[in-house]
Amino acid sequence: MSELSSLGYVVFSVSDLARWEAFAAGILGLMPGRRAPGMLGLRMDEHAQRILLVEGHDDDIAAAGWQFDTRDDLEAYVERLTASRIAVHEGDRALAESRQVECVYVCDDPNGFTHEFYFGPTHASISTPFRSPLLKGAGFETGRLGMGHILPVARDYAQSLDFYRNVLGLRVSDTIRDSHTVPGATVDATFFHTRTGRHHSLATMAMPFPKRLHHVLVQVQDMDDVGMAYDRCVKAGLRIHAGLGHHPNDRMFSFYVETPSGFGLEYGYGGIVIDDNAWEVKNYSQLSDWGHRPQPAAQ
Ligand SMILES: [Fe+2]
Repeated sequence: MSELSSLGYVVFSVSDLARWEAFAAGILGLMPGRRAPGMLGLRMDEHAQRILLVEGHDDDIAAAGWQFDTRDDLEAYVERLTASRIAVHEGDRALAESRQVECVYVCDDPNGFTHEFYFGPTHASISTPFRSPLLKGAGFETGRLGMGHILPVARDYAQSLDFYRNVLGLRVSDTIRDSHTVPGATVDATFFHTRTGRHHSLATMAMPFPKRLHHVLVQVQDMDDVGMAYDRCVKAGLRIHAGLGHHPNDRMFSFYVETPSGFGLEYGYGGIVIDDNAWEVKNYSQLSDWGHRPQPAAQ
């Protein structure tokens, strides 16, 4: 059966492009790429763009782009969705161009954004390799694992799980039922991976949060780059949603900073890759095994 290969890109609708560019390039170490009026592509690797910022009022996720390895895979997947009466339509040339892909199909997510299924990402010219003056290590962890992961907040948890598992066809990695993090409340989260195995490309949980997207993750290949990014965030007076810590399930060492749009960005190192032949789905009892504590605002 044809499956999603990886989360290849994300699209954010942002109200302040200039502030986002300064955050992306000057704090995170992403590389500004293609520019068009009201749009900025951000690079993490040899792809022409991995994050697309589009000027808008939402300050939230607009789309998640899922890569397929072949056009046949993509078309078989779209046919399956259509046969299951899921509304999917082909994006026009302008949409494919803005996403820097050969062809793209679109369907709605139950939590208020769209999924885009694509084939053929554009690669940047070899004369402009990915470079980041801020990163000490070998750069971001992308390649076949995709750009990172997203955690959309579930409006209806059961319906969201059904959609991600049975419509998108994502594989369950594990679950967490945590009654420590939010006082007096139990938080349930489910984590999903694609066939290339990044521990999760998408996770969801039901919790009060003012945005559709709780956070997006970018992962670096050197642990020191997490610490240095953390220092840059603190120095810039940015709001840290959760300080340095470690997740028990994907074993990510990370922290969470507030983006200029208000949702979070997890900056991490060391997340595991799942081998489905040897994987056992488990339930964990806490979101973090140490750290990830809310930090007081800078003075
Ligand atoms: Fe995360």
